Amino acid sequence: MNIDGKHYRTIWPHADGVSVEVIDQTLLPHEFVIKRLANLAEAAEAIRSMVIRGAPLVGVTAAYGFAIAMRSDASDQGIAQACRALLATRPTAVNLRWALDAMRATVAPLPPAARADAAWKRAAEIAEEDVAISQRIGRAGMPLIEAAYARTGRTVNILTHCNAGWLATVDWGTATAPIYKAHDAGIPLHIWVDETRPRNQGASLTAYELGHHGVPHTIVVDNAGGHLIQRGMVDLCIVGTDRTTARGDVCNKIGTYLKALAAHASGVPFYVALPQTTIDWTIEDGVRDIPIEERDPREVTHITGRLASGDMAIVHTTAPGSPVSNFAFDVTPAAYVTALITDRGVCAASADGLRGLFGATDERQ
Ligand code: MRU
Repeated sequence: MNIDGKHYRTIWPHADGVSVEVIDQTLLPHEFVIKRLANLAEAAEAIRSMVIRGAPLVGVTAAYGFAIAMRSDASDQGIAQACRALLATRPTAVNLRWALDAMRATVAPLPPAARADAAWKRAAEIAEEDVAISQRIGRAGMPLIEAAYARTGRTVNILTHCNAGWLATVDWGTATAPIYKAHDAGIPLHIWVDETRPRNQGASLTAYELGHHGVPHTIVVDNAGGHLIQRGMVDLCIVGTDRTTARGDVCNKIGTYLKALAAHASGVPFYVALPQTTIDWTIEDGVRDIPIEERDPREVTHITGRLASGDMAIVHTTAPGSPVSNFAFDVTPAAYVTALITDRGVCAASADGLRGLFGATDERQ
């Protein structure tokens, strides 16, 4: 996508052929800084500290982190060490495990001397596949927006939560891909952007993306969603997911579940957009079985912003000494999801719906 007229992806190989560059998302929207990841520790730290984030991009960065690690140690022990370090970074997004499984399956049968090049090639393929997948999600989801426009004959109001945009993938995004496609096709849109406390991925990242692409939008506090939905100010919701169970439960940024409940109560469609890499076919019950990341309480007690002087600053916003919990994700049961928008098309959020698109276990890629 474009930043000030220049096309960027969120991750790309450095000219040296042995490291990658990423956009440092901890500094957006205030500063656009490119960071180089040159070894396993730097790749793992970029994922952990959310220099890069979003389930698909976490997976792609892990793939490249693995490939970079193979340059310094391509032994069986090196493979195990790279997987261990990268898997320990964030527990909820299943793309991380998916990407590492794919990388391991590529290199393990090869002699150590051939592993680094094969890993680099596979990581690049995974990145390319991610772009194609996002585009397919865009094409699958756009008719839902077109239908809302045909029904209402006016600007379509869409609510989204967190950032499931191009910054969360390699390009295009998942929840935003249908939005960008519809906007580019001339359908009038307005996006309600939840700020998404505590890290403000909506206010900082989604708003930044939409603004740069010229999509009309308004940032609202997280608690406004129910009110907007209840008053008929939202035609449909589209969010992303970090892990989707075999029966269609979805785990996404904390606060997603409350939006789904409000949408359900008011009969507003609640769509979840996802690449097949977020489906965890090994589990059914997301509430019981998806590990929910708990992050540093400091993300709740402190907030980063830009002062009038132009300097960046971190300020403390909560009562000193009060205990804090920081659950990063929640699970929305399939019953509250109107449909899943996948790279293979739209389906019911159910075991049958997912099986209908992706086939039985032995038919899946
Ligand atoms: O903690 P984050 O910023 O990595 O969380 C991101 C989300 O919750 C996204 O909605 C999800 O990864 C889907 S991204 C296409």
